[in-house]
Amino acid sequence: MAETTKIKTIGVLTSGGDAPGMNAAIRAVVRHGLSKGMKVYGIYRGYTGLMEEDIREMRAGDVSDTIEKGGTILKTARCKEMRTPEGIARAVEVCHKYGIEGLVVIGGDGSYRGAEKLANEGINVIGVPGTIDLDIACTEYTIGFDTAVNTAMEAIDKVRDTSSSHERCSIIEVMGRAAGYIALWCGIANGAEDIILPEKYDYDEQKLIDNIIDNKRRGKTHHIIINAEGVGHSASMARRIEAATGIETRATILGYMQRGGSPTCKDRFFASIMGAYAADILAEGKTNRVVCYQHGEFVDYDIEEALVMQKEIPAYEYEVSQIL
Ligand code: F6P
Repeated sequence: MAETTKIKTIGVLTSGGDAPGMNAAIRAVVRHGLSKGMKVYGIYRGYTGLMEEDIREMRAGDVSDTIEKGGTILKTARCKEMRTPEGIARAVEVCHKYGIEGLVVIGGDGSYRGAEKLANEGINVIGVPGTIDLDIACTEYTIGFDTAVNTAMEAIDKVRDTSSSHERCSIIEVMGRAAGYIALWCGIANGAEDIILPEKYDYDEQKLIDNIIDNKRRGKTHHIIINAEGVGHSASMARRIEAATGIETRATILGYMQRGGSPTCKDRFFASIMGAYAADILAEGKTNRVVCYQHGEFVDYDIEEALVMQKEIPAYEYEVSQIL
């Protein structure tokens, strides 16, 4: 719940999978925090760096020439120790040692869970949604998603060219962990013949096979299937489809290229506003919040409430994807 304590020293870290736009968010936290008269510490390598005191005070110039860069200048890590009481106690101890009264955590759901544990130990945390997966329930936008789908879309266009030339079927696997948002968006934007989402797939491969044969009969020179990482098994699926249809089928896993590259304007913009918003609510004395984008506005929710929210693939968007 929001309180009225004003704070003087904050820390910022990036955690979990990196996402394009994280640097813009860090930059905004640092510069907006400094403009509010707060001392800002950059914590390197996520919670791991926090426990190991890999911490440096940030000046405005430390974030110069970073907004256009992919990755995260603070580095990141998936920190197993944050799942242990000892790890949490150590993180709390370091926050106290440096006088960090507010900690901005830029990352996904997993990073928020770590933040929630720190909140339970009295550390004020603010979450900023940074993940290419778009799978954080409380927000309609996550930093990195726009760059990732644009990167994937361009790559898929290229695979489509060669699939057409060779009259092949291509299964292209995109990231997203257990969520199908990247697959849904690329499926629509690339005009894929089939889209396989973990939230919707009924594992009826025969339906896919019939669709491929049908398309071939109607004169299509390629068949693009966008498969989400959460369903996976693209290579074995390709082998089975080729055996059943007689059509050469290839699997392409786009992988980590989706997490890299210079962020799009949209990611830089959202990251900048969300980072600044995090510094603002800390300066206002709010505690344990996550910054979100909902119904065209930047808002914040209590971290515990945010973590129990649920999100589904929008029914209408899915319906349209199936028709187009
Ligand atoms: O959360 C971002 C993401 O790229 C997911 O899409 C993917 O499942 C996961 O991270 C991969 O994580 P790692 O970098 O640990 O292999």
